[in-house]
Amino acid sequence: MKNRTDLIVGIDVGTTKICTIVAEAGGASEGLRVIGVGRVPSRGLQKGVVTDMDAAVAAITASVEDAEKMADAEIYTVFTGITGGHIASFNSRGVSAVADGSGITARDIERAIDAARAVSLPADREVLHTIPIEFAVDGQAGIRDPKGMTGVRLEAEAHIVTGAITAAQNIIRGVNGAGFEVEDIVLQALASSVAVLDDDARGAGVLLIDLGGGTTDAAVFHRGAVRHSHVLAVGGDHVTNDISVALRIPVPAAEEIKRERGCAIAERVDPEEEFEIPASAGRMPLRCRRRDLARVIGLRMEETLTLVRRQVERSGLLGLLGAGVVLTGGGALTDGAAELAERIFRLPARVGRPSGLAGVTEVIDGPDYAAAAGLVIYGRRGRLTGKVSRFRKVGRIERIAGRLRAWIGGRF
Ligand SMILES: Nc1ncnc2c1ncn2[C@@H]1O[C@H](COP(=O)(O)OP(=O)(O)OP(=O)(O)O)[C@@H](O)[C@H]1O
Ligand SMILES: [Mg+2]
Repeated sequence: MKNRTDLIVGIDVGTTKICTIVAEAGGASEGLRVIGVGRVPSRGLQKGVVTDMDAAVAAITASVEDAEKMADAEIYTVFTGITGGHIASFNSRGVSAVADGSGITARDIERAIDAARAVSLPADREVLHTIPIEFAVDGQAGIRDPKGMTGVRLEAEAHIVTGAITAAQNIIRGVNGAGFEVEDIVLQALASSVAVLDDDARGAGVLLIDLGGGTTDAAVFHRGAVRHSHVLAVGGDHVTNDISVALRIPVPAAEEIKRERGCAIAERVDPEEEFEIPASAGRMPLRCRRRDLARVIGLRMEETLTLVRRQVERSGLLGLLGAGVVLTGGGALTDGAAELAERIFRLPARVGRPSGLAGVTEVIDGPDYAAAAGLVIYGRRGRLTGKVSRFRKVGRIERIAGRLRAWIGGRF
């Protein structure tokens, strides 16, 4: 296998699936070409966080190895996502004094952002992202880039994303345990947004909702910057559980029925339409009305989207979503998901699919690939601007051990 340094790899370590995308980057003006994709069912995660390290390491290993095989290249470093109920975000302000007359420099901007980041956090939490929103120079607000401007007082407003140190470390440990270094760790909703939102939407105001298996992640953009984000520890797994309880069938059968027959809007389903749930151990085949199934799915999805709406409302941004709502994640594949979101937010809604990548993109066309695709794009931008690459290492990086563990895990 080829050893290449121009590769950019994203691993979306999700609750449902672990998805790896390998892309090659040409020169700065060229795009990214996807050359390898790996997707395996996730193991060892619940609600977005690692709960069984060995199982997670084995699944990460399997996902990356599939992508390596397809790309015919060996992987060493990756960008990875993070989510979970432990994530908390807020906006913060910081001020820096500018040396008189000389114009605002990059260092002045950095100092103002550093001041915004200097919030006191409990000892078990860390800052994952500090993203500038806008600046004010001598009280004049709404400035996107103050560099070169004249003024004495520079104020920065930044969106700060924090998370539990242990949760971040466990994701990194899992990736390290599989044999890879983590170049950077990115909030999942931000990664997804990079793959599915264009500048127009980000400018006009847009709410991105990633409907994952274990979590629902949301981010609001307005005037080009992220202004709000949050993670709910509810997701598609809850929908599946509801189906399992309502129809009295095992969870895997409920999951299959949801994917094949599911709909988020009961009235859209013919009241006469029925389907059969095949017999299984000790149970006769079952006939079920599809509308009843849709009712179960719709209720839970409505509840989840209403929770998101409440959070966005609280942030004061609900009235600023000129470009509406964009749905990603596996839940966005539910028939009628966008229509349900339109009803709940009273705004146009659509399903977001990754764009901006070349190569074997037909494999990663779905909304459930948004986070992995976004990690690759985010990683590329970070490398070009030198803004990421704060390599993080928690565990020992031993490729052989990772492979062996996967092999053992598969055997016994
Ligand atoms: N065709 C489909 N119809 C309805 N739901 C689907 C479909 N395909 C996948 N899902 C649901 O999407 C969810 C998984 O989404 P996704 O792959 O984005 O999750 P994940 O990224 O692994 O999880 P998380 O982001 O919560 O850690 C599951 O609940 C799954 O049942
Ligand atoms: Mg996800």
